[in-house]
Amino acid sequence: MLYDSQIPQKVVTKIQEALDPRATFGISGGEKIKSIDGYQKIVSWLLQKTATSKDRLIVLGGGSLIDLGGFVASTYHRGMKLELIPSTLLAMVDASIGGKNGINIDGIKNVVGTIYQPSAIFICPGLLDSFSKEELLYSVPEMVKHALLDSESHFHAIEEHFKKGNWTDLIERSARFKSALVHNTSEKRDLLNLGHTIGHAIEGVLGPSCSHGSAVFAGLLGEIGLGVHLGLTNPEVLKRLEKLPLYSIFPDLRSISFDELFEKMVRDKKSINGKVGVVFIKDIGSPIGVRFVDRSALEYAWGVCQMRSVQMRSVNGYQNRS
Ligand SMILES: NC(=O)c1ccc[n+]([C@@H]2O[C@H](COP(=O)([O-])OP(=O)(O)OC[C@H]3O[C@@H](n4cnc5c(N)ncnc54)[C@H](O)[C@@H]3O)[C@@H](O)[C@H]2O)c1
Repeated sequence: MLYDSQIPQKVVTKIQEALDPRATFGISGGEKIKSIDGYQKIVSWLLQKTATSKDRLIVLGGGSLIDLGGFVASTYHRGMKLELIPSTLLAMVDASIGGKNGINIDGIKNVVGTIYQPSAIFICPGLLDSFSKEELLYSVPEMVKHALLDSESHFHAIEEHFKKGNWTDLIERSARFKSALVHNTSEKRDLLNLGHTIGHAIEGVLGPSCSHGSAVFAGLLGEIGLGVHLGLTNPEVLKRLEKLPLYSIFPDLRSISFDELFEKMVRDKKSINGKVGVVFIKDIGSPIGVRFVDRSALEYAWGVCQMRSVQMRSVNGYQNRS
């Protein structure tokens, strides 16, 4: 069992007692571990424990350790059984589902990886107790994206969550939604890029100081705003999105110029002949799919993001996190 050593030891011990693995290896998670060095460490440990392709690797950790552990499991002796116990909210609703894994090389994210399905995923919401409410918010934009694509009742449940605060049902709903989508046609899978055309570009420009969730939230607002502008999306969707109390995680976009952002978007795999692919929805639960839009449309979407950035910064209690 490979586990993230940032998880409180008493929690790890409990899981260890329940699963009784032949060997355990604790390693500090986070993005840096998704490297050749991290890969080498785990393979060396497996060799030292004389693990074979008949063994199973259990990975208890966040998205970073799951991406690395999944890659090791898919390649060690040409593949060993893999089971996942995601320990962050993002890993529970997103990273553990779909079988994608990978490591970063020369600063390029997930440049080497495979698609390799785990034989089981165990989701225990109690593992989130070590995070503050604020820390958990950074994973919510991916859950919002799932709800926007899924249904009115799913989105309503997210809105209600901020009043009641129970994660368990929402995690199950979000995880099941992603699971159904990734096992669908590639056209359906592409819907998961909602908010990510602008989101990835923001992340690319701001670098590691900007969390993925913050960038995706800004991307969702910009892309839904563009949908409204083009007459494709019901304006109510944007209004409801703006009302979600996620202003504290909104990124500070002041240092970004549209030219550098556009450059990132055009270089992205979703662009053809200078036009960039954006996922649009008609309404909550009614996705349209990918449409290719030109520079001026994206500049409009960027204007929406910037306007929200100013509004969000003026909200009482906002702290600059970028
Ligand atoms: N494969 C996919 O489909 C997919 C999807 C989304 C994201 N990802 C990847 O997931 C990674 C981000 O994952 P993440 O957001 O889960 O962060 P993470 O795994 O990097 O973990 C964030 C921090 O929390 C710590 N941690 C983990 N679990 C903990 C716990 N229970 N208690 C206390 N600390 C804990 C980690 O050690 C780390 O310091 C990125 O590399 C991203 O590319 C992959």
